[in-house]
Amino acid sequence: MSPSQSVVSTFQRRLLVWYARHGRDLPWRRTRVPYRVLVSEIMLQQTQVERVVPKYRQFLRAYPTLRALAAADVGDVRRLWYPLGYNIRPVRLHAIARETLARYGGRLPDDGDALRALPGIGRYTAGAVLSFAFGRDAAVLDTNVRRVLGRVFFGPRRLRRLRGDSRLWALAESLVPRGRGYDFNQALMDFGATWCTARRPRCAPCPLRRVCATFPAHARRRRGAES
Ligand code: ADE
Repeated sequence: MSPSQSVVSTFQRRLLVWYARHGRDLPWRRTRVPYRVLVSEIMLQQTQVERVVPKYRQFLRAYPTLRALAAADVGDVRRLWYPLGYNIRPVRLHAIARETLARYGGRLPDDGDALRALPGIGRYTAGAVLSFAFGRDAAVLDTNVRRVLGRVFFGPRRLRRLRGDSRLWALAESLVPRGRGYDFNQALMDFGATWCTARRPRCAPCPLRRVCATFPAHARRRRGAES
C-alpha cells in the first residue's frame, strides 16, 4: 500500500520546513564538489558526524583533490584515517580515486550504475553522491532514514512484518520531491539523527505527527481499533 498524495506532500513540505529551521551546518554541506561529497559519505558510513567533522577537514588538507589522493601512498592514507577505525574504507576510497582517474579522467561519474561499480559504493552512497554532488533526485536509505520512514509510513506492526529493504527503497524513491533531492535527503538524515532518534524521539513537538503511523496517539487509536 503506498501513501496517499496528500500524506506524501504533507510529509515533504513539513520535513523541508523542519530542515530549514533545524538542519545542521556541516562542512560537507558547503560544497558540491563530488570528490568532497564522496569523502564525507564514505567517512559517515560507519562513523558519527562529530567524529567525522575534524577528520574530513584534515583529510582534505592532506588530499585536496581526487588526483592528489590517487597519487598518494595507500599506507599513508590508512594512517591518516586510522582514528576512524582500522578498516577497509580508506583503501577503497583510494582505489576509487585511482579507478576514477583511469576510467573517467578524474571526474566521478554522474550515474548510479557507474558509481556502484566503484569499490565500496553501494546503493546508499551512490544515492548520496547523486543527490548531494550532482543535484539528482535520487533516494537514500541509511539507518536513520530507515527508522524515520518505517515509523512514519509503516508503524511498529507493519514494520516488523517487512522483510528486506526493497519496499523501503521504493518508498524512499517515491518521496523525493522533484528538484529537491539535495535538501530532502539531507533533511531526512538530520531528522533521523537529531529528532526522530532511536531511543528518544521528540514526538510531542514533532511536525510530522499528523502523518506518522507511530505517533503515540495514532498508535493507541489503531491498537484500540484492532482489538
Ligand atoms: N550521514 C550520512 N550522510 C550524511 C550527511 N550528508 N549529513 C549528515 N549525516 C550523514
